[in-house]
Order: sequence, then C-alpha cells, then structure tokens
Amino acid sequence: MKITICAIKADVGSIGGHIKPSEKLLKTVEDYVKTNGKGLLIDHIVSFTGDDIAILCTHQQGVLNEKVHKLAWDAFRAGTEVAKAQGLYGAGQDLLKDAFSGNVKGLGPAVAEIEINERPNEPFLFFAADKTDPGAYNLPLYLGFSDPMHNSGLMLSPSMDKGFKYTIMDVSYTEVDRVVELNAPEELYDIAALLRDTEQFVVESIHSRNTGEQAAAVSTTRLHNIAGKYTGKDDPIMLVRVQGAFPATGEILSPFNIGQYVAGFMRGSHNGPLMPVKRNSCISFFDGPPVVSCSAFCVREGKLTEPADAFDHPYWDHVRDRISEKATELRRQGFFGPAMLPYSELEYGGIVEKLKKIDKKFIARGK
Ligand code: F6R
Ligand code: MG
Ligand code: MG
Repeated sequence: MKITICAIKADVGSIGGHIKPSEKLLKTVEDYVKTNGKGLLIDHIVSFTGDDIAILCTHQQGVLNEKVHKLAWDAFRAGTEVAKAQGLYGAGQDLLKDAFSGNVKGLGPAVAEIEINERPNEPFLFFAADKTDPGAYNLPLYLGFSDPMHNSGLMLSPSMDKGFKYTIMDVSYTEVDRVVELNAPEELYDIAALLRDTEQFVVESIHSRNTGEQAAAVSTTRLHNIAGKYTGKDDPIMLVRVQGAFPATGEILSPFNIGQYVAGFMRGSHNGPLMPVKRNSCISFFDGPPVVSCSAFCVREGKLTEPADAFDHPYWDHVRDRISEKATELRRQGFFGPAMLPYSELEYGGIVEKLKKIDKKFIARGK
C-alpha cells in the first residue's frame, strides 16, 4: 500500500516565554485536525517539543498535498486564536504569511514528508528539535547512514552494502531549491565538506542505494530567509525509516549521544549542545539547551501505533548529564568566541544595528 507519512510543525505560542505550548492550545490543534481531517487523513498524532507543536499524519494524497497542508495551516491558525485569547507568548509566531498558498513551504511551518510503499512491517522515527536549525541533523545523518562506527550494518548487512544517496540543499537560496545529490561511500569527503557548514548546507533527504527507497526527509526551512529578519529559530523535524534496508533504530540514535554543538539556544544566536530529550519536553536553561525528541512508530495501512519514546531510557539520562555539563562549560564564556554565533547569523536586530553604528565611527589610518 502506498502511503504518505507527513509531519508539519509550527510555533504558534507558548507559556512563560518560549517554553512549551499550553494544554488548551495543543487540544485545539488536535481537535481541529481530528474533526477536519476526516476522510482525508488515515491517522494523526499531535505532540510538542519545546514551544513547537507537530502534527504527524498519514494519508494517501502524496507529498506536498494542498488539502493536507491547508488542514495543518488552518489547525495552527485555530491554535493561534486560542494562543491570543490565553495571552500566550509569540502567538502565531511561525505563520509568516496571511494567506495559504498551495502548501506550507515558504509560509513558516516546517514540513518533512515521505511517500512510501508500506513494507509488511514499517518502523520509522519522528524527530523534533527546538532552539536550533535544520543543520543540527547533518552530523547524526552523516554518522548514522555512513559511518560503520555508528552503523555496524554497513559492514554486517548485505541490504545496506551499496550505501546511501544524500540530497543536500543549499539553504542560502530562497528563490528556488538548490540541491546536490552525492553518494556515500564514494563521495563521503565531499558530503563531509558540505555538511560541516550547517548554516548553508542541510541534508534534505536520503535514499537507499540498494533499493532506491527514500529513508529520510528533513525540514529545510530557514525562517529568516523567508521573513528577511529573525523571527525565531527553525526548529527542524525529521522522518527516518529504519530496519531492513535502512539503518537499525539504534544505529540512527547512536550519534545523538555526542551532543554536538549546534546553532540556536538563547535568541537563536548561540551555540549549544543538542540534548536528546523525552517526548513533550519543555526547554529551560538559557532558553535551551537545544533539544531533540524522537518518537518511534510502526505503521500498517496508514494506521499508526502509539509512539515509543526513543530517548526515554536510563542510558540517555547519563547522556543528558554529560550534555548538561557541555552546555554549562560553553555558557561560562558567555558571548565570547564560539559561544555566540558569527555576525552573519545574528539576525536579532539589536546587535546588527549596533555594529552598523559603530562601523561608521571607524577611521582608516593612513600609511
Ligand atoms: C530562541 C528563542 C528564545 C527567544 C528569547 C527572546 O529560538 O525562541 O530564546 O529568542 O526568549 O524572545 P523574544 O525576542 O520573543 O522576547
Ligand atoms: Mg518560539
Ligand atoms: Mg521553537
């Protein structure tokens, strides 16, 4: 059976700053999708990570489907009304345009979707991150799909012996999608050369070279590229199919124990370690640290199981403790050096204006 797994997420308001959405807001989005998705969606589940609400759904309409995207857009609009009525912070924050046009790409919400020929058993992972941008997934996807240090199946399983194809997007372009396809393992060094630059190059999708099937889809939205100014971090979502011709769940989760430093954190202007957290977790310290949740599912004829919380295990408590120390250590140097993002990423009005003003005061000394 052919089905589409579709995840669309937006920040449309939260309690106490940018911490988490209210129960009422979540329920409004959930109820809207439930009522208005009848006959369109096969199944759906609504969750949150930090201040972002994600609608994960299944249907048979293919990717970028107007009706499905409009349903999510309207659900977030309905949520925005509740957020306004409750006085939530940043009500409607990610709905950057007034009118819906075709699909939610370029309108603010982030989307990750895959159309699949459902396998007899179809396990997949849904990742949602807050206080960071889509480049946050570059390293885990590089390691999880191409490094035998994390993915032992690359050595042990004949169903992955041809490796994977990465489609990488240059997100500095907003007019059109500018992408390149590179094959691992042959072009691994080229892939690494791009993926190290998380602000410009982002993995958009990954395909199995053994079967041709799509394994992963990442939301590539960069909000400041759409709005022309800082409107919040992009807080990316990702779908990853696992097992069989794809990496095992544990091989995909493995690199998340690194807690690599990613862009985001306070005011979207700092670096912080990416912390794997439980489903429906809020953020806290210095508006962070950047967090990522992972819900594991199986799907049969489009019907989802309940989620299994992949980071809800004692192992990850130990990882979280270590990552907290990494966060504290980098925060000790405040705004200095690598603790804060470079000028080009400081979209937050104030400092850019400040630097422009100071720039005029510079004098060039003659020889
Ligand atoms: C980062 C984030 C927060 C806010 C910060 C200031 O993505 O959402 O760190 O940037 O709380 O928020 P505003 O500018 O809304 O007062
Ligand atoms: Mg926010
Ligand atoms: Mg957010």
